[in-house]
Amino acid sequence: MNPNEKVALVTGGASGLGKATVLWLLDKGAKVVIADYDAAAGQALADEHPEATAFAKCNVTLTEEVTAAADLAVDRFGRIDILVNCAGIGAAERTLGREAPHNLDLFKTVVAVNLFGTFDMTRQAAFRMAKNEPDGDGCRGVVVMTSSVAAFDGQIGQTSYAAAKAGLVGMTLPLARDLSSVGIRVCTICPGIFDTPLLAMVQGDMRARLEQSVPFPKRLGQPDEFAQLVGQIVSNPYLNGEVIRLDGAIRMAPK
Ligand SMILES: NC(=O)c1ccc[n+]([C@@H]2O[C@H](COP(=O)([O-])OP(=O)(O)OC[C@H]3O[C@@H](n4cnc5c(N)ncnc54)[C@H](O)[C@@H]3O)[C@@H](O)[C@H]2O)c1
Repeated sequence: MNPNEKVALVTGGASGLGKATVLWLLDKGAKVVIADYDAAAGQALADEHPEATAFAKCNVTLTEEVTAAADLAVDRFGRIDILVNCAGIGAAERTLGREAPHNLDLFKTVVAVNLFGTFDMTRQAAFRMAKNEPDGDGCRGVVVMTSSVAAFDGQIGQTSYAAAKAGLVGMTLPLARDLSSVGIRVCTICPGIFDTPLLAMVQGDMRARLEQSVPFPKRLGQPDEFAQLVGQIVSNPYLNGEVIRLDGAIRMAPK
């Protein structure tokens, strides 16, 4: 699918990997709905591209806000062709603390945002994509989910995050199979360590150690490199049901 003149919805589009994806898609001529619960950052980004974007304040754990974001894309730009799920949060807590076991509400929140939120947006966007006219390959839409290398090499304290991200990996193929009848492709990206606002807080020795832990290239990933892979997934009509690590060959150590 050529993104030019297509309509994309990007969750978590106000920051980091999602923002880089929004900018990449705009550069290629797409219209983009930015769905994020950070209204200030999301609206500011949308205001920089008033003709080609719309902002939806959306917490992906609230299904009515997910519906409203999908509806906004259709109302403003006529349809949804591309969904990129980037909204996500992390957490660090060991299964056993000194005084108590892992906080169960924290575990549920991390799974709710990363896994349930991604599934809710995917099912609601796919329902609307299914009404699109198919292209020459019979394709009506493309869905990208953002997992993590933690799906495979979760570190100490990452049970909730790794469980949620592994859930995305696990549902990639069944989603692609479910949606094959309507011509919607689904792929998942597992980023390694990317230089997003989250990582900007890590400086000095710690940052150098992170960079050294990447076999090659020995640096953090750039958000635009994530966006380029989204672009490949959107553009390549035969890429479907696949999980792709984007990580400089890193395998995370236990901690
Ligand atoms: N940066 C990395 O190294 C890295 C590595 C592996 C995976 N990831 C994944 O990539 C995705 C993007 O990460 P990032 O580094 O760009 O983070 P980020 O914090 O820069 O951006 C995440 C965006 O998601 C939004 N968001 C968070 N919870 C939300 C919710 N409930 N509803 C709607 N929006 C919500 C935030 O407001 C923010 O704009 C996440 O899913 C993250 O788990 C990142």
